[in-house]
This record gives sequence, C-alpha cells and structure tokens, in this order.
Amino acid sequence: MTITWDAAAYEQFAEARARPVTDLLARVRAEEPALVVDLGCGTGGSTRPLAERWPRARVVGVDSSPQMLERARRADGESRVEWVEADITDWEPPGRPDVVVSNAVLQWVPGHLDLIPRWVDALAPGGWFGLHVPGNADAPNHTILRDLVAELPEGPELTVRLLGGRVPGDPVDYAAALHAAGCDIDAWETTYLHLLDPAGELAHPVLEWMRGTGLRPVLGRLPAEREAELLARYATALAAAYPRTPMGVPLPFRRVFAVGHRRG
Ligand SMILES: C[S@@+](CC[C@H](N)C(=O)[O-])C[C@H]1O[C@@H](n2cnc3c(N)ncnc32)[C@H](O)[C@@H]1O
Repeated sequence: MTITWDAAAYEQFAEARARPVTDLLARVRAEEPALVVDLGCGTGGSTRPLAERWPRARVVGVDSSPQMLERARRADGESRVEWVEADITDWEPPGRPDVVVSNAVLQWVPGHLDLIPRWVDALAPGGWFGLHVPGNADAPNHTILRDLVAELPEGPELTVRLLGGRVPGDPVDYAAALHAAGCDIDAWETTYLHLLDPAGELAHPVLEWMRGTGLRPVLGRLPAEREAELLARYATALAAAYPRTPMGVPLPFRRVFAVGHRRG
C-alpha cells in the first residue's frame, strides 16, 4: 500500500517541524563535505538547511513521493539541490557521500535498522550519518488513532501501516547499529513541547498536525462518509487529550536522534 503525501498539510506546522532538523545538524560536524545526501527529503525542509550550511557541497535530496518532490522543486527556484524520485531502501548514491541525513523518515521504512550498515558503508571515510525518528508511538494522538482504526472492518489492513505497528527504535538501538557498522556514536532523545495554533485559528490543531503525517496511511482509504465519521470521533478524543491553553495547544513530542561518525 503506497502512502500518498500532502505537501500543504505537512508544511502547515513547518516551524515546529524545523527544530529537530536544527538540533540534529548541530551534531553533524562535517566541515567541507563534497557530497551531501538527504534520504526522504520530502518538501525540502531538511534539505535546505544542508545546502545553506555547506554552500559548496553537491546536495542530493531523495524521496519516493512525487507530491512532496514537486513542492521541493518549486521552492528551489535556483535548482541548488538535485531532487531524485526513488525509494531509499534500494537507491544508490552517485559517489561516496561525506554526509547522509534522514530526518523523520525511517519510521516509514520497515526493517530500516538493517539498512544502516549499507548506508554507513557507502560513506566516505570520516563521513557522517545522522537520523531522527519520532519516539511517540505511545502518545495519545497515536494510541487513540490505533484504537479507532482497530474497530473498523479495514482495521487489520490499516493498523499495520500506522505508527506503532512497527515502532521505531530507541537511541540505544540506533547507537548499536551505527557502532556495529564502524561509527563513533552520539545518540539522544528529547521531548519537545510544540505549542500548536497559539492564535486559536484552528478547531482541531492536533488533528491538522496528524493529517500531515500519522494519518497518511488512513486518509483516502475509506468511503468518504466513513472517513468523515472516523475523523469526527478522532477530533473529539484529541480535543479531550490535548486541551487548549492560553499558550495554544501543547503537544509533547518525544523524538529520537543518532549521529554516527565513520571511523577514518
Ligand atoms: C515526515 S516527511 C519528512 C520530510 C523531510 N525529511 C523533512 O524533514 O521535512 C517523510 C518523508 O519520507 C518519505 N519516505 C517515506 N518512505 C520512503 C522511502 N521508502 N523512500 C523514499 N522516501 C520515503 C515520504 O515520501 C515523506 O516525504
């Protein structure tokens, strides 16, 4: 089952989604990389900071979603980045990258821990591999969705694609995979407090957030009337789990990071 992405829904919370990229890249300490790769570049939210940080590098962004790449290309009027439509599970880089980054992608790639040795092997000696995955599969926005979907006749088929059906790892899992592949490690986790919709413009900001990511495997898979019914029940439950405050709607979000520096 292919997931269809919606670039506008994803970018609605671009500022909140940008912070983990900044924190990840702060620990990737390459100085003058020649080739930099963004695995699962989406609309370019993680690729643009790479191109800005290393203006002389060749930067390649890879993604399997034509919708996301179309948006990335449009925003990159000067074609600074090479945008490639491919599946990262079998894509081969055009040379030995000095930096490979994957931001908020690997949770969608089953068995991705097993792919880490191949990506590290492809690195130039002294190269860097940095990843970030959400670590919030047990947060209410995901557990409520899984419970609601499990009640549907389509439940078994849809549940398997939701976050939680194959929870990404903890920092120690990524650290172990990168270490075994020949890297020095820097791995950590943190919980961000995203304050959604401080201006109070949206009826259901957490639902809108989920439309850009966690809901993708469900949207468009049910007859319209039943999808609307599911979303209404989900919105009601989310409003109770994430009440509005004077700051906006607080969404605590645990995220997991790992950076490997390939031993020279
Ligand atoms: C949550 S977005 C993150 C985009 C970007 N890295 C960012 O930080 O803004 C996840 C992206 O992963 C891509 N993706 C998921 N599985 C993929 C795969 N197997 N191969 C290539 N791209 C994939 C999706 O198409 C989507 O654009």
